[in-house]
Amino acid sequence: MQIKIEKLNYYYEKKMKAIDSINFNVLKGEFIGITGHTGSGKSTLLKHLNAILKSSNGSVEILGRRITPKSKMLKEIRKNVGVVFQFPEDQLFSQTVKEDIMFGPKNFEIPIEEILESLEDIKIKLDLSDEILARPATTLSGGEKRRVSIASVVVSKPKILVLDEPTIGLDYGNKTKLLQLLRDINDSGVTIIIVSHDLHSTWDYLDRIVLLEGGKVVFDGNKESFLKDKINYSIKEKYYPDFIKILIKVNLLKNNEKLAGTKKQSLKIITDYLDGETNE
Ligand SMILES: Nc1ncnc2c1ncn2[C@@H]1O[C@H](COP(=O)(O)OP(=O)(O)OP(=O)(O)O)[C@@H](O)[C@H]1O
Ligand SMILES: [Mg+2]
Repeated sequence: MQIKIEKLNYYYEKKMKAIDSINFNVLKGEFIGITGHTGSGKSTLLKHLNAILKSSNGSVEILGRRITPKSKMLKEIRKNVGVVFQFPEDQLFSQTVKEDIMFGPKNFEIPIEEILESLEDIKIKLDLSDEILARPATTLSGGEKRRVSIASVVVSKPKILVLDEPTIGLDYGNKTKLLQLLRDINDSGVTIIIVSHDLHSTWDYLDRIVLLEGGKVVFDGNKESFLKDKINYSIKEKYYPDFIKILIKVNLLKNNEKLAGTKKQSLKIITDYLDGETNE
């Protein structure tokens, strides 16, 4: 097991419980999607995966190492668990994009030839030109910043790659390119954990879904059981259109015309599906 989290609690301030008794295990090579409402604790959980946050309440073990508030010398953990944050600005601060991308691997003391080789590869895969690499990140568009922040983590070849809402701000082409890149990285044995509201886009790539609500894990399992589990629908009311698209995509719903409509119509489609009264 690469990550073993047991009964983890995390408070930002007294009485503000952002993580509530979470158990979360990760096996090598999994491709996991974490989803849930805004404020449900997704980013807070991610920050425990490479010891940005260290909790004394519960147990966190990353790549065989127990993390406590006293844990120091975390370079190895940070190198092996690469985290792409929700806001690209949080990880871009150098004079040029190239320096931004090379900052991590240099800090991890990866030999320069290896860094440059990895950079060439990632430039092609994420469509980053030399012109972009020469500019400061502050002058880039949202989608460009997103791709650069991803490159700056992928370049160090972590064993576990964690991404917080990586598809936001990307157009369809770049989104597909990114997800394909993640699949290739996953095929090479790297574990992928991706936080996303955009389940419809990421669906095909995921092996497992974890749903958070109010700091708790309320679902953890495969896609098939996710679609059958009523609790997901009751929690994710605002994503009904997304659910309907997924149900159509996986051939559980066939009537495309029903797609358009109000929240009430969506609710009816979902309820009929769960009651087994749809289609056929
Ligand atoms: N630095 C902080 N200080 C105080 N409270 C915080 C801090 N960061 C997050 N919180 C609170 O902790 C809870 C969980 O936040 P978190 O950022 O983990 O949610 P999230 O699921 O990632 O949401 P989103 O989908 O909006 O990114 C929220 O109630 C949030 O207001
Ligand atoms: Mg978040």
